[in-house]
Amino acid sequence: MYEVYIRSFCDGDGDGVGDIAGLRSRLAYLADLGVDAIWITPWYESPMRDGGYDISDHRAIAPEFGTMGDAEALLAEAHRLGLRVLVDLVPNHTSDRHPWFQEALAAGPGSSDRDRYLFRRGTGDAPPNDWESQFGGPAWTCVDSAEGWWYLHLFAPEQPDLNWADASVGDEFEAILRYWFDLGVDGFRVDVAHGLVKEQDLPGLRPHGDGIDHPHWDRPEVHDIYRRWRSVADGYVEPRVFVAEAWVSTPDRLARYLRPDELHTAFNFDFLTAPWLAPRLRAVIDATLAAHAAVGAAPTWVLACHDAARTVSRLAREQADAPVRSLADLLERPADFEVGQLRARAAVLLLLALPGGAYLYQGEELGLPEVEDLPPDVRRDPTWERSGHRDPGRDGCRVPLPWSGTQPPFGFSPEGASKLPWLPQPPAWADRTVEALAGDPDSMLSLYHRALRLRRDHPALGDGTLRWLPSPPECLFFARDPGFGCLVNISSYPVSLPEGTGVLLASQSLGPDRQLARDTAAWLDVA
Ligand code: NOJ
Repeated sequence: MYEVYIRSFCDGDGDGVGDIAGLRSRLAYLADLGVDAIWITPWYESPMRDGGYDISDHRAIAPEFGTMGDAEALLAEAHRLGLRVLVDLVPNHTSDRHPWFQEALAAGPGSSDRDRYLFRRGTGDAPPNDWESQFGGPAWTCVDSAEGWWYLHLFAPEQPDLNWADASVGDEFEAILRYWFDLGVDGFRVDVAHGLVKEQDLPGLRPHGDGIDHPHWDRPEVHDIYRRWRSVADGYVEPRVFVAEAWVSTPDRLARYLRPDELHTAFNFDFLTAPWLAPRLRAVIDATLAAHAAVGAAPTWVLACHDAARTVSRLAREQADAPVRSLADLLERPADFEVGQLRARAAVLLLLALPGGAYLYQGEELGLPEVEDLPPDVRRDPTWERSGHRDPGRDGCRVPLPWSGTQPPFGFSPEGASKLPWLPQPPAWADRTVEALAGDPDSMLSLYHRALRLRRDHPALGDGTLRWLPSPPECLFFARDPGFGCLVNISSYPVSLPEGTGVLLASQSLGPDRQLARDTAAWLDVA
C-alpha cells in the first residue's frame, strides 16, 4: 500500500498544490513501482486548517484538488491499472465550517442542534476539564464567555469533536461509507480510530500508567462502531477494507480493533517508532505477530507517514533506546545522512520481508530526508503555532515530491505553473528526483522496484509466518517458507552470510567473502 499525501504528490494544474489530475498523471508510475493499492489522504471540501483533516463536506472534493468527475476518473483508471484505492475517513471531528457545526453555533446553548458535538459549560474562565489538544494547548474553545460555553477539540479548534453518543452521527457516517463504496472506493483509512468515544461526563485526566481506561482514547465502546462498519463493508460483493490509525498502548490493545467482526488491519506504529536496535525491533516484531495471530488478523508494517519525521532522518541519528516519532524528537541529535540512507535501505528490506501488509509513504522510495529547516513563515502544520513555536510540526515530511529536472518545482508542477510549490523544495533534491534515480541501478528507487517485484513473485513473501534463525549479535535473521531468509545487520561490524545461501537481493553490495556490511539487509535463498 502506498500513501499519497495528495497536496504534495503531483500538481496537475500549476497552482503549486498537488491534485487529482496530477495523481492521475502518475498512476502508471505507481503501478510500475509495484504497489497493489494507494491510500489517498483527505481530498474532500475543507478549509485546510489541518491538511484536509478538517472536512466541511464529506461528499464533495476540495476545488483545489479537483472535481467529483476527477475522483471518479481516478478510480476507474487506478482500477484499470490493477491498483485498489483507499480514501481517508475522518470520523472523530469535522471542520468548524461543516454545516452541522455552523447550525450548532447558531442554535445556541440547550438546542438539540448542539448534540452532535461536545459543548459543555466551564467554570469561570476555566474550560470544562483539563484535556489537551494534540497540537498543543487546551482541547476546549469558548464560544460564549458570558455563559461559559465551550466545545471540545482534541486537535485544532477548527476541528470540533463529534459526539458519537448522538445517533445521527453514526447514521451519517454509515451513509458516507456507502456513498464512497458505491462510487467504487475499495476501502477507508480510519483517522483517529481510537478517539471517537469519550467517557461519559468527560472526567478529567487521571494517571494512566498502562494507557487503559483513558477518558478519551481507546474506550471499549468504540468497537461497536467498527462492528457496524464491518457489516456495511461485508455487504459488498467486491472486497471493501478498513485500516485503522489507532495510537494505542500495546499491540494487544491494537488487535482488539482487528477482531474478525471489526476492522481488517491497522497501522503498526510501534514498528515506525522503534529505534534501529536489533533487540527493540525483534521485540516489536514478536509482539506484533503474537497479538495479530490471537485475533486472526494480518499484521502491517510501516516506516513512514505524513505525521512522522522521514525515515532517513530518523535513522541518521544515534539510536537511543526510546521511540522516535517527530522532528522535534530529532533536532538536538547530530545526523549522519549517509548512515540514514543505508539504514533506510536495510529497513525497507526488513519491512517488505515481514509477514503481512506493508505501507509505504510517498517519497520514501526516493530516500527523501525530512526537510528540517523550513522557514517558519511557510509552515502550515497547526502544531507549530499551537506549541508556541516550540515544535516545528510535520511539514518537513510533506514537502512536494521531486519528479524531474534540476531545479524546483522538479516536475511537481507543470511547465509554466502560476505558483511555486506550496512548501519549498530543497535545491539539493535535484539528485533525488524520480528521473535521476530511475536511471541508477543502485538508487533507492531501483531497490524499491526490485524488492516489490520479488515480494510479489516470491511464494514465501506477503501473508504467512516467520521463524527466527540463530544469528550473530545485533542482527535479525528469520526464515519464511518456502526457502526464503532475511538477514539484517544492525551491528557496527560486517558479518558473513550463512553458508549455502544464495543472495536474492541486498540493500548494498556485499563485501569480500560475502560479507554483509553494517546497516545492510539481504534477502536470501535458503532452499
Ligand atoms: C491523524 C492524521 O494523520 C493527522 O494528519 C491529523 O492531523 C490528525 N489525525 C487529526 O485528524
